[in-house]
Amino acid sequence: MRKLAAEKGLLYGTTISAKQISEDSRFVDLVVQQTGLVVAENDMKWQVMNRGARGDDDYGPADTVAAFALENDLALRGHNLLWYHRTPSWFFDLTSRQEIESAIVERIRRLAGRYRGMVHSWDVVNEPIEPKDGRPDGLRTGVFLEMFGPDYLDLAYRTARETDPAARLVVNEYDVELDTPEQEVRRTTLLNLLERMRRSGTPVDAVGVQAHLSCAGAPPFSAARLRRFLADLAGLGLTIQITELDVTDEKAPADEAVRDRLVADAYGRFLDTALDEPAVKMVVTWGLSDRHSWIVRKETHESKWRTDGTPSRPLPFDADLKPKPAFEAIAQAFAYAPQRAAG
Ligand code: XIL
Repeated sequence: MRKLAAEKGLLYGTTISAKQISEDSRFVDLVVQQTGLVVAENDMKWQVMNRGARGDDDYGPADTVAAFALENDLALRGHNLLWYHRTPSWFFDLTSRQEIESAIVERIRRLAGRYRGMVHSWDVVNEPIEPKDGRPDGLRTGVFLEMFGPDYLDLAYRTARETDPAARLVVNEYDVELDTPEQEVRRTTLLNLLERMRRSGTPVDAVGVQAHLSCAGAPPFSAARLRRFLADLAGLGLTIQITELDVTDEKAPADEAVRDRLVADAYGRFLDTALDEPAVKMVVTWGLSDRHSWIVRKETHESKWRTDGTPSRPLPFDADLKPKPAFEAIAQAFAYAPQRAAG
């Protein structure tokens, strides 16, 4: 997949963790063979790194992932500098605006500074919009907005740019892929946000479309709508990254062959459309093998898993690291993708 993607000017990547790097050498070999980029699934998230007190951050696992990328000549994505959902608890106790600002700046300077020059792109703010929160600008009323105000975005992107000028700065968002009125509102909201950021000089280079998809029981997909959205994003002068692609088979029939076909078709349909847009320069699957997928790991209690007891099969390789029809579908989408300028 790495090679097929690279031939078209595309970067293909996957998530990895420090634990997998130290404990699962067969999986790691597959990552090195198949991908050109890695992103830490959780190891760079603030709340995951923070051991409780302000400043008491454990960089060990994040360093392991960064060193792994460097040693194996893989590009490195940074995920993420700020995410309302993974903010350490002490942050919520800050009261003065100055303290809040300095905590945000410190977080970004420390992490982005540590890997300066090594990171291809940073998800600076993860999931900044939520039209359902009811604000006219559609921004999510999460911790940063509530405690600092909407210009936390400008602060974050400027600080990231100053800290690592070579990294592409990304706004990463979900539920903007499918054909529902809710997702249409999310698309418009995201476009408006990015347009405002560009107009006001807030440094942003790319948009991340997460693309956590579903192969059955999901809302409809419209190639025309997705194409239009991606073209609108490209029209703002942004590059586009598909950042967390996976296909849950949560509601698909139990038969494995049927499921694998449905999952593969969903990958193919999505990628064929997305890769038609030349501004799409990167595809990252949220994992590479069903062995390590947030959809399969029930203990996270955050995801979608099957209720019939059969393990989910959402990724290109199965739990034994054998390629599935999804692998063929992705490879084929890369092979047929139009050539693009690298970026
Ligand atoms: C998920 C991880 O995959 C899980 O292991 C963890 O328990 C929760 O976070 N959008 C994101 C990712 O931006 O960081 C999330 O990753 C999946 C949804």
